[in-house]
Amino acid sequence: MKILGIETSCDETAAAVIEDGRTIHSNVVATQIDMHAQYGGIVPELASRQHMLTFNAVIREAMEKASMELRDLDGIAVTYGPGLAGALLVGVNAAKGLALAEETPLVGINHLEGHIYAAWLEDIPDPANDPGFPLLCLIASGGHTDLVLMRDHGRYELVGQTRDDAAGEAFDKAARVLGLGFPGGPEIQKMSERPHGPERRFPRPNVKNSLDFSFSGLKTAMLHRAQEKGWYPPGEDEIDESELAGVAAAFQEAVVDSIVTRCVAAAEKYRVAGIVLGGGVAANSLLRQEAITRSPVPVIVPRPGLCTDNGAMIGAAAWHHLRDAPQYGWDLDVVPTLRLG
Ligand code: KG4
Ligand code: ZN
Repeated sequence: MKILGIETSCDETAAAVIEDGRTIHSNVVATQIDMHAQYGGIVPELASRQHMLTFNAVIREAMEKASMELRDLDGIAVTYGPGLAGALLVGVNAAKGLALAEETPLVGINHLEGHIYAAWLEDIPDPANDPGFPLLCLIASGGHTDLVLMRDHGRYELVGQTRDDAAGEAFDKAARVLGLGFPGGPEIQKMSERPHGPERRFPRPNVKNSLDFSFSGLKTAMLHRAQEKGWYPPGEDEIDESELAGVAAAFQEAVVDSIVTRCVAAAEKYRVAGIVLGGGVAANSLLRQEAITRSPVPVIVPRPGLCTDNGAMIGAAAWHHLRDAPQYGWDLDVVPTLRLG
């Protein structure tokens, strides 16, 4: 079953053709990040307009790379939430247009479910190593840090979430305080990998008797550290790069430790067969490494390009919705605050 997966919930206009939830025929991602970086964060109205301008070219490229015509598709899938309302509207409306023109089944996909299904794409996991269910899924992105217990395809239970900032948001805010670029996660990772001396560790945020996360205290600790060193507010003095790398590395360790500790605790509590990592923060190399080292069960983590937003994950998730019952979602609406489980 060949499905066109479309994603426009935030700052990537993305489309992919996926067969049977697994094989990637094409995967095109047009990122707007440079446009938003000059404002230090995503500007919702600019995002919607850019999706509108880019959409047709992205769809055309995805179809060309897959060597297919729209009429060859068995379904069209589009993210309908969570995300920026205006950005989601562009994708949903355009997907309806395509589906109507070709009378193709159309299904709306939860973006968070998409991040989970990136784990089934291509050879990840190798079918021989597929641990089966139940799985513990971490979705760590710019807007979410959720622990979801997945008992089977389509069966989700939210067992942990952030009480304040999302992990990606914490990286983005910390990077801003350190004068690094946007998005902050990749910048902090890059800085952490530079040579540095020892640095005082950051506190490990802890929500007692719970699998919930909290990152706002860590953000405040970073602000105090930068003020103490005279780096914030930004001044004329040059910042010692190895000291900066040390602070970035200590911060990254604290976020990663906080995430992995809860993943392992949840995996043990629910006796899962494996852990799936997804969302932009799962592109972080220390997180990937630590999760694999400390987990008592196999860890399935898509390659970094499939952790950040893309259309392939939407096409992969859609297969499970469309294969049993074709749907025609003409009344599909966007749900910016959609949850999973
Ligand atoms: O899933 P995603 O692409 O978009 C949302 O659904 O939000 O996640 C974006 C987030 C940003 O906050 C970004 O800083 C973070 O993922 N991120 C990373 C890395 N790459 C992206 N965080 C840490 N390390 C990375 N390598
Ligand atoms: Zn995402």
